[in-house]
Amino acid sequence: MKSWKKGIAAVLCAVMVMGLAAGCGGSEKSALDQVKEEGVLVWGTNSEFPPFESKNGAGEVVGVDAEIMAKVAEKMGVKLQVEDMDFDSLPAALQSGKIDVIGAGYTEDEERLKQMDFSTKYFKAKQVVVVRKGDTSIKSKDDLKNKKIGVQVGTTGDIEATEIEGAEVSRNASMLLACQDLKNGQVDAVIADSETMKYILQNMGEDIEVVQDIVYDDEYYGLAVKKGESELLDEINAVLQEMIDNGEIDQLLIKYSAQG
Ligand code: ARG
Repeated sequence: MKSWKKGIAAVLCAVMVMGLAAGCGGSEKSALDQVKEEGVLVWGTNSEFPPFESKNGAGEVVGVDAEIMAKVAEKMGVKLQVEDMDFDSLPAALQSGKIDVIGAGYTEDEERLKQMDFSTKYFKAKQVVVVRKGDTSIKSKDDLKNKKIGVQVGTTGDIEATEIEGAEVSRNASMLLACQDLKNGQVDAVIADSETMKYILQNMGEDIEVVQDIVYDDEYYGLAVKKGESELLDEINAVLQEMIDNGEIDQLLIKYSAQG
């Protein structure tokens, strides 16, 4: 009865192959499963971006993003762990699995969308140009050509500045440092996010100001996860939507903008 033995062998082989394939797929756990299993959600950020994230006196990262992330972790029933790093290290950290999510007043843009997935947007921002008060030489985008421009490295402001003809871009670890360079005369202008600039100007802005006539396109902040991690993204989106709908995000913005 060779032929039925062969038949059984073939079926067994097929079952084994299917099992192997399933096993392989199964060993690649989703980010959500991993987080739940470990009981920890790792949030990657750069805490130089008030009111979204900054360090309080006790060295803890606080701000709008910190509160959003705390809510996400709470909903998932896990602990939140923060990894505070250079802003331009965030994409690689997400890619390598060092962090589960980027929450950093992080603008969704085409380049980033190639590497990661973004959540529902929770804030509309734009880039602004800041100069020394009374400097009338920079009134339009054209005037930025061949100038020295300070930015935070890896930000959308960095991208804008890099596109300006003949500009010498000075890339700093933070927008605050870029503004200090501006005060000291080491750069002619700073390009950075409107909301954080508002905050910095409130606190150290006696001699620097926003150029009102230079306007960039709107941009939107979202949280970013590794490409394809749709289950984790769903959890995040549910929390964000609730916080947007019930006005919590707006309240947090007021709360953290007033501090400083
Ligand atoms: N929105 C800008 C960007 O995504 C700047 C964000 C800076 N965030 C920070 N936490 N330092 O490029």
